[in-house]
Amino acid sequence: MSAAVPLHPDAVSERDDLDLRQRFQSLDALLAVHENFWKPRPFEEVLPNWRHTHPELYNAVISLSDTVVESCSAEPARFQAIAHPFLPWLQELARASELVAAPSRSLTFSPFDALHAPGRKWRQVTAFAAALPPLSGPVHDWCSGKGHLARAVADANNVELFCFELDAQLCESGQTLADKQKLPIRYIRQDLLQPFDSRREEYRGGWRLGLHACGQLHVNLLRASVDSAADGVAIAPCCYHKLCLGEQYQPLSKTAREAKLTLSLKDVSLAVQETVTASAKERAQREKESQWRLGFDQLQRQLRSQDEYLPTPSLPKAMLNGDFNAFCAWAAREKHLTLPTDIDYSHFAETGRSRYREVRRLELVRHLFRRPLEIWLALDRALFLQERGYEVTVREFCSREITPRNILITGQLL
Ligand SMILES: C[S@@+](CC[C@H](N)C(=O)[O-])C[C@H]1O[C@@H](n2cnc3c(N)ncnc32)[C@H](O)[C@@H]1O
Repeated sequence: MSAAVPLHPDAVSERDDLDLRQRFQSLDALLAVHENFWKPRPFEEVLPNWRHTHPELYNAVISLSDTVVESCSAEPARFQAIAHPFLPWLQELARASELVAAPSRSLTFSPFDALHAPGRKWRQVTAFAAALPPLSGPVHDWCSGKGHLARAVADANNVELFCFELDAQLCESGQTLADKQKLPIRYIRQDLLQPFDSRREEYRGGWRLGLHACGQLHVNLLRASVDSAADGVAIAPCCYHKLCLGEQYQPLSKTAREAKLTLSLKDVSLAVQETVTASAKERAQREKESQWRLGFDQLQRQLRSQDEYLPTPSLPKAMLNGDFNAFCAWAAREKHLTLPTDIDYSHFAETGRSRYREVRRLELVRHLFRRPLEIWLALDRALFLQERGYEVTVREFCSREITPRNILITGQLL
């Protein structure tokens, strides 16, 4: 079992103590005042309005070489350095978005568990488990999947665990793995979007964990934790915009309800637009799809005589093995448009490629706000817990190469 050592107090810098509310308000003011740089989407709007107020930035960005664009996409700090002379307030934005690394306990995990989880997932799980304080039970792992996290936590803490998961197959194979090791974990098939009485006697107290539970699911987790007066909560949120009702983002905390910024769920999706974990093949496919969509976008603007973006549904993946002409035929059918027979497809395919080159460059500017927006959202969750009597920290539990969704919010009931 585990060999826990005390946390290293030195690992926590002074920045960590920055008042969460104050930090939220600085980010809020910066994001709101500069929203013309990040709310409009270059994919949908042919030219950004900010080019009139910042023509030098526009020219510098548009003329970046492919090699520089590639390295800036992989390493956002590179583009920050390029943009900084044009946008001096970027430094303040970066400062407000910095998080310290969570102190990490040195834990020993069973080799059996490592064998049964994919490599990167296991690194996320062990980093998350090591960043938690010693836990009281029962521990609930929300949206547990097969329960890799629960098994790691069981390796490191002497507690009873419940895994809540929608997928029956995952519950079954998770239970088999846990039973093989005689771990005290019970899998419960549960739709966590539905009302669920977490105040039942057997669930009371203890800790609630959620590693990469999407949008509304981790919001429900926070609400259920607070309602049942859980001793502690630890979440690494992801897909902040998913599974939520309506089109507008609903702030959780009182502070965020009084914020300057108002967000649509589409705005919120910027926070998780990052592809560091995508394979080269996935990236190439995404590139092809984007170029086709942009080519079709120019075609539909001409056909409809309307200079506005027309969203198309998600693409059947097999279609990417076909060609641009077949894609246009499919997209036109989906949007009830009739394509004339004399379309110059090679012209629109080329337009798609050149729009894509432009969009990638303009997206670099938009992406300067991606992490600040994510921190804004994380702080909304943190403040929600704080307002309900929890002592809260917001830190990074691993490097962004292991997962870009590396923010750990912990709350301990005071
Ligand atoms: C991104 S995975 C995270 C799994 C696990 N926590 C991990 O990090 O490996 C999200 C999990 O949420 C589960 N899920 C999706 N919708 C759900 C719902 N409505 N109720 C419960 N679980 C759900 C999925 O089946 C999936 O296993």
